[in-house]
Amino acid sequence: MGIVITNGKIVSSRGILEKDVRIVKEKIVEIGLNIAKDEDEIIDAKGYYIMPGAIDVHTHFDCEAGGIVADDFRTGTKAAIMGGTTTIIDFAEQIKGGTLRHALDTWNKKARNKTYTDYSYHMTISDWNDRTSQEMAEMVGEGITSFKMFFAYKDLQVDDGSIYLALKRAKELGVIMGFHCENGDLIEKLREEAILEENIEPIYHMLTRPPSLEKEAVSRLITIAEIIDIPVYIVHLSSKEGYDEIKRGRDRGNKIIAETCTQYLLLNKDCYIPKGEDKFEGAKYVLSPPLRDIESSKTLWNGLREGEIQIVATDHCAFNYKGQKELGLEDFTKIPNGGPGVENRFKLIYTYGVKENRIGMEKLVEIISENPARVFGLYPKKGIIKEGSDADIVIFNPEHVSLIEAENQVQNVDYNLYEGFTQYGKFEYIFLRGKMLVRDEKLIVSKPIGKYQRRNRFCLNSRW
Ligand code: URP
Ligand code: ZN
Ligand code: ZN
Repeated sequence: MGIVITNGKIVSSRGILEKDVRIVKEKIVEIGLNIAKDEDEIIDAKGYYIMPGAIDVHTHFDCEAGGIVADDFRTGTKAAIMGGTTTIIDFAEQIKGGTLRHALDTWNKKARNKTYTDYSYHMTISDWNDRTSQEMAEMVGEGITSFKMFFAYKDLQVDDGSIYLALKRAKELGVIMGFHCENGDLIEKLREEAILEENIEPIYHMLTRPPSLEKEAVSRLITIAEIIDIPVYIVHLSSKEGYDEIKRGRDRGNKIIAETCTQYLLLNKDCYIPKGEDKFEGAKYVLSPPLRDIESSKTLWNGLREGEIQIVATDHCAFNYKGQKELGLEDFTKIPNGGPGVENRFKLIYTYGVKENRIGMEKLVEIISENPARVFGLYPKKGIIKEGSDADIVIFNPEHVSLIEAENQVQNVDYNLYEGFTQYGKFEYIFLRGKMLVRDEKLIVSKPIGKYQRRNRFCLNSRW
């Protein structure tokens, strides 16, 4: 016995198809008309879109900063699934002096049996040495086919020589490397100066991380990648300056894949300016890179529309305002870095992208499902409604309207970056590998069923 979803519109990057979808066990087995068999359960999706489950390739669950944490894998992936995301890729973090194996073991302990979505990890490299180089191959054997390095954060950043050697190794292994592009040394100096001058408020987080420092790191990364001739992935692109640098790099023939995040499309640096009584509220938006000007948001939307930016993720890294962000009341450098959003991406990009005619439905699916699956070796198992693919399916009612309110959210954090935003859409049904997890926006399972996904090597689209 299977399930047939009928009367809906199947969305992919290539168009919208009015056909039925038949699911048996974990897979989509048929797409067509009149495909229901006796005893199949029928779901009427009239007026709804049938979309592949979204994939968020940038989350930090159970990410401790100085021992504090808000969302762990259980609450974070519950919020993800309630927000239409059926697979997440989190970052397992190597500590300086530690091994990649230790990072993987640690992340497995954090995640195993706790995830409501399917999941995988990128491996963060912050200690480049011969052992790390060898271990990269071991990680590929574990299904981890993407790695990440930082140009910023003094406890994580690596030098250009290490980036060069790691990229050479990535080329040998055929894997993709992502980079946090901000010039960390200069940020450190600007932060020290700010504190010496008693500039301690949250707005100095933004003022000490100007967009020129993103541009510089993007340019340096492309320079290194160009010598090796390897594609690179830029995480959380935030600024027009960084974007222009990517375009210049592409014009010279470099392969660059760019990700931006919901917050850089919908919020801007005015969020750091105190508005009400509470002069510290800007701390809610202390995330890196910081929010930029409206011009940058416009550029990023254009980049998505024109195919210059391939992916929208969230960089969900949640800390409570009360008690956690407040650690930086007297010094902005002590505010835990990161913000929530895994629950909100799908509807927000639909509302402010599709409903406001910045992008079409096909592009929405491309940037939150299909491209993430392609770039990170999950395609066509995930990221598309196709015969043989996992039945990760969102049945989306486009008409429903609601307001974002932290007090009603699932993510385990006491504020929402998009408080009061109107959003369109309702998740009528969400399936993960053929199992209905959400009905009428309610979670209908008591236990998490997410499975670890071993990923293939990345798949580069000729346009990128
Ligand atoms: O603010 C952020 N993004 N925190 C998480 C670490 C990172 O840079 O991705
Ligand atoms: Zn980052
Ligand atoms: Zn991040």
